[in-house]
Amino acid sequence: MQYLKALHKWTSVVVGIQLLLWLISGFYFVIMDHQDARGSVYRVRPPVQQIDHQRLLEPGLILSRQQASVGLQQITLLGIPYYLLTHEQGLYRHFTNSYSLVNAYNGELTRINEAMASSLARSSYNGPGTVVSALRLAPPVADLPKEQNSVWQVNFDDDINTSVYLDAGSGHVIGHSNDDKRFADFFFMLHFMDYGSVKGFNNIQIIFFAVVTLFLSLTGFIWTINLIANGRYALPFVGGNKAIELIDKNDLSIGVRRISSRQTLLDGLIEHDIALPSSCGGGGTCGRCKIVTDPIVAVGAADKHYFTDHELALGYRLACQHKGAEVKRLKLLDVVNARKHQLILVGSEFISPSIKELRFKPADGSKLDYRAGAYMRFFIPAAKGCSVPLRLPEAFQPHWHHIEQLEYQHLACSRSYSLANYGGRQELVFTIKYQSAPNNRVLPGAGSSYLCNLEPGKTIEAAGPFEDFYALPGASVTAGAEQQQKKTRVMIGAGAGMAPLKALIYEQLEKLNNKEALYFYFGAGTEQDLIYYREFTELQQQYPQFHYLPTLSRASDSWPGARGYVQQGLKDKLTNMDCLENVEFYLCGPTNMMSETIAMLRACGVEAENIAFDDFSR
Ligand code: FES
Repeated sequence: MQYLKALHKWTSVVVGIQLLLWLISGFYFVIMDHQDARGSVYRVRPPVQQIDHQRLLEPGLILSRQQASVGLQQITLLGIPYYLLTHEQGLYRHFTNSYSLVNAYNGELTRINEAMASSLARSSYNGPGTVVSALRLAPPVADLPKEQNSVWQVNFDDDINTSVYLDAGSGHVIGHSNDDKRFADFFFMLHFMDYGSVKGFNNIQIIFFAVVTLFLSLTGFIWTINLIANGRYALPFVGGNKAIELIDKNDLSIGVRRISSRQTLLDGLIEHDIALPSSCGGGGTCGRCKIVTDPIVAVGAADKHYFTDHELALGYRLACQHKGAEVKRLKLLDVVNARKHQLILVGSEFISPSIKELRFKPADGSKLDYRAGAYMRFFIPAAKGCSVPLRLPEAFQPHWHHIEQLEYQHLACSRSYSLANYGGRQELVFTIKYQSAPNNRVLPGAGSSYLCNLEPGKTIEAAGPFEDFYALPGASVTAGAEQQQKKTRVMIGAGAGMAPLKALIYEQLEKLNNKEALYFYFGAGTEQDLIYYREFTELQQQYPQFHYLPTLSRASDSWPGARGYVQQGLKDKLTNMDCLENVEFYLCGPTNMMSETIAMLRACGVEAENIAFDDFSR
C-alpha cells in the first residue's frame, strides 16, 4: 500500500503539472489575437494575370514528353502559364507529392530556383519588409512540422520576422509564419501535449497521459477504500463505538472497552480512565503515547518519525494518531495514573498583557493530589475564537493594538498546561499565555484563546494530572532521598514557563520545608511581563534560603534589577559556584532559552542527570 500511495502522489504531480499547462494555454487562447496567431498579417492573394490562350501548347503534347502523370493542371505563376503535372499524389497536400512544372508557352521544364521562389513569395506578401534570404529546406521544417515535401522558405526583415513557405515542386504558397504564429504554436503544443510537434492530439504523450490519469484514478480509488476500511472517513452519522481488546504489557488481556470510532485512541482510552503519557496533547509531536496494534494499521507521518521500520512492522503506533475504528486490539505499553475530570473555572485574571492566571476546581468537589510540576490536558471543544482577548484591562490594551480584531472557527482539540501550584489544594492554578497569531493568515492558539476567554462558572473537561517533571527523589535526578534534600536547587524560567517552577518553589519552601538554597532565575521582557514579582519578592523575605533573580531584556530606565537574558545572568553566577555536582537545575520556558541554557550548563560541567526540564513546546 505504501508503494501505491507513493505512486499515486507522483502521478498526481504529473497530472497536476499538465492540468496547470492546460489552464495557462487555455487562458492564452481566450486572450490571444486570432488574426495574428494565424501568421497571415502580411499575406495577400497574388494578382490574377491575363494569359494568351492562343499560345498555349496542347496538353497531350506535354504529357507525351514527360514521365507518366496522374493529373495535369494549368496554373499561372508570376504571369506565366504552366502545366503542373502530378506524378505521385498523397492523400493530403502535405503528404509526399511529386510534380513537374512545364512552361505552357514553350514546353520547357521549369525548376523553381531562389530568384523565382523570392518573386513568388513577394507576390503573396504586402508587408514593409524585403527578402533577406530564400532557403530550400528538406523536411522536417520547424514552422511546418507535418510537411513531408521540400519547401522554399523565403524570409522577410519585417518587425515580426515573416517567413513565406512555397512548395518546391509546384510553387504553391503553402503559408506564412511569423513570431506571433510561432508563439501561438508554442501554446498549442502545450495544450495538445504535442511535444513531438506532429500538429495534433493523437500522439504518444496523450496516450501516456491517459494511462497515467487512469492509474491515478485507480490508485486513488484503492487508497480511498483502504482509508474507509481503516475508519479514516468515519462520517458523523456512521460508526458509533467499537469494541477493542486491551492487552497489558505482559501480553495479558485486560478486557474489552468500547471506544468511539471517531475518537483518537488517546482520547478514547481516557474515557475509561486509562491515561497514556502525552505532553503534546495529541499533536503527534511528543512521541509518548506509544501502543502496539496490528501491523496492518496504516502508518502515519508521526508514526514514521518516532518508530523504526522494525517497530512499525511489529505494530508500534502513536495512540493520538489513530482512531477507534482502525484497530481491533491494542497493547498498552505505558499507562500513567491520571483520570478525566470536569473542572469549573472559578477565577480568570490577567497577570501580564498576554498571560492569565486561571483557577479551576473539580466539579465533584474533590481535591486532586499531584506533585509540583504536573500538567493537565484540556479538551477544547470546537468553537468560535477571537484574535484579541475579551475583557482586556485598559492598561494592557496598547500591547494588543497591532493585532487585527478577527473571529475564527477552530476545531475540537486538546492542549496541555502545567499547574502553577502543588497538589492537595482547593484550586488548580494555571498561568496560560495567549498564543497570538503573527499575522491574519495564521490562527491564534485555539487552546489558550478558548481557556483565557472562558467565563468563570463554566466547566471544561481535562485529563490528568500527569507527572513528568518534578523535584522529588525518583525524578530525573538520581541521588537518594537524603542526599536530595541537601542539594541546592536552581530554577530557570521565562514567560509562560513560570507555572511548573512556581509550583516547585512553593512545594520546596511551604510543603517540604526545605532549608537548602533555592535560586529562581526568571526572564521577561518588560516590567509588565514580570508576573508574580511582588509575590516572589515577599517570599524571599520570608524564606532566607530563597533567592529571586528576575532579569528583563527590555526594561525601563527605572528598573533596578538585572538586564539581558536570563541565561546570561546565570552564567556569571555559575562561574562563581563551586561543587556544581551538588546543584540541580530545573528549566521551563521558550525553546531557545532552554536549549541555550542546557548547552551552557553542560559546557560548565553540569551532569545531564542534574538537569531537568519541562519542554512545553512539544
Ligand atoms: S500525545 Fe501522541 S505524540 Fe504526543
